[in-house]
Amino acid sequence: ATEPDLRERHVVVTAGGTREPLDPVRFLGNRSSGKQGYALASTAAARGARVTLIAANTSLPDPAGVDVVPVGTAVQLREAVLKAAADADAVVMAAAVADFRPAVYAPGKIKKKDDQDPEPIALIRNPDILAEISADRARPGQVVVGFAAETDNVLVNGRAKLERKGCDLLVVNEVGERKTFGSEENEAVVLGADGSETPVPYGPKEALAETVWNLVARRLS
Ligand code: C5P
Repeated sequence: ATEPDLRERHVVVTAGGTREPLDPVRFLGNRSSGKQGYALASTAAARGARVTLIAANTSLPDPAGVDVVPVGTAVQLREAVLKAAADADAVVMAAAVADFRPAVYAPGKIKKKDDQDPEPIALIRNPDILAEISADRARPGQVVVGFAAETDNVLVNGRAKLERKGCDLLVVNEVGERKTFGSEENEAVVLGADGSETPVPYGPKEALAETVWNLVARRLS
């Protein structure tokens, strides 16, 4: 049976992937389905938490008993996270946030011109929301969790990212063919700022979610 160990806690989870518009009909996006974030939200609700799920471009049913805030871009996701995190005990950043966005938004559809090469797309940096909320905790003892998809040197790169971002826990996925994007399963290692390493074997995204909440609940108690 699930312990209600997150009762009286407010947790914020981000899910999905941001879309950065080029013009009214086009965007730069990514393949995140939002399934891991939704699994985190529903398992936290089952453990008694009040859950705010900030959902970037997902097409999944709202989990029962969860407050869902839809967003589109990284800038919108940042606004929603900062607002919800103000009174949160934990923030879990499972969304794939675009690192860059088009420098210019064309208010009319970009047209192709005959016999002309396309203009290059200039990009500018998006704010790093995980680094920002980690550096500037809305309340003392707030637990901040990040996600990272790595293709190689998973543990070394993950540890460096944990330190760079300043979060308490970093869930590191090895990105592979059947893993991670759109699949029902995941395999990961959860790195802790305290030096801990918690491997999570290949299995349902709910199992990884439960491990994350175990580690969060321990830090909150
Ligand atoms: O740097 P990288 O994109 O690999 O980091 C992934 C983690 O950082 C995820 O938890 C993601 O939600 C978060 N992130 C963020 N703001 C960004 C880029 C990533 O909060 N601009």
